[in-house]
Amino acid sequence: QGHEQVVSTGELPPPGRVRELLIEAHSRYGSVSDGNVADYIPALAAASPDLFGLAVAGVRGRTYVVGDHAVEFSIQSVSKPFVFALVCDVLGADEARKRIGVNNTGLPFNSVMAIELNDGSAMNPLVNAGAIATTSLVPGDTADEKWQFVLNGLSKFAGRPLSMAADVYASEAANNKRNQGIARLLESYGRLYFDPLEATDVYTKQCSIDVTVTDLAVMGATLADGGVNPVTGERVVRADTCKRVLAVLATAGLYERSGEWMYDIGLPGKSGVSGGIITIAPGKGGVATYSPPLDEAGNSVRGQLASKFLSDLLGLNLF
Ligand code: DON
Repeated sequence: QGHEQVVSTGELPPPGRVRELLIEAHSRYGSVSDGNVADYIPALAAASPDLFGLAVAGVRGRTYVVGDHAVEFSIQSVSKPFVFALVCDVLGADEARKRIGVNNTGLPFNSVMAIELNDGSAMNPLVNAGAIATTSLVPGDTADEKWQFVLNGLSKFAGRPLSMAADVYASEAANNKRNQGIARLLESYGRLYFDPLEATDVYTKQCSIDVTVTDLAVMGATLADGGVNPVTGERVVRADTCKRVLAVLATAGLYERSGEWMYDIGLPGKSGVSGGIITIAPGKGGVATYSPPLDEAGNSVRGQLASKFLSDLLGLNLF
């Protein structure tokens, strides 16, 4: 591995050590140049491959940052666990499992075949099918009410009012046939719970919400903290909801790479195509990375390396 392993102690290391490790992770992996910036959405293709930011937020409310920590980027798939948390909190864990599913597909995030191979199930809230089904279950009678609920809920997770990147939304909304097709397919199986085009549109807006890597760390820390945002002190979801969300993240957060992620990092995590990754250390905090170049599965290359380094050296691995 090239670095030592530290065993979990139940706490983050002292602040000075966390800062030191963030700086070390940033300098170790900053020069890695593998991977390609996502180009299937034109607005994402414009991101600089050099951007690299890291953040840690502890459950006691401290945050630590290094590199491009204030750069805003669209949250993309990292929104999925948080919208699932909001929906699961309202529906209850059993109903959420019944309507969406909680198993890994073993297939890429936008797979249509995964639905067909599983009797029309969306499978889990972290692949596109399950995420659109989840969004269709958000409280609200109209698409706009659902959107406001999502935006407000994610803002509580981040502890500040978030907003949508209009250019990313417009760009993705104009290239959305596959997600619309997935929504229609789910509808044909009775597994979508709102109008398919409107549900897809709210999902697309949700993916276009702008965040910084610091926001992601705080959002992750809220899940680590049993649903209370450790910076604002506000309860966002119930503690039992967090356990379910973290279980699904552990199972499917890195899609078909979830097993390898767990094997290497030993913590629930979630990636997004704009280059963000969150890792949650239950009871300790959230780690977030931002670096746009991705591997073939759509996961940030530097982000995976830095997450592994930080999981090991901060002593976060659950096992
Ligand atoms: O649905 C999509 O294609 C995007 N808005 C989000 C996909 C994403 O981030 C997948 N993650 N790696």
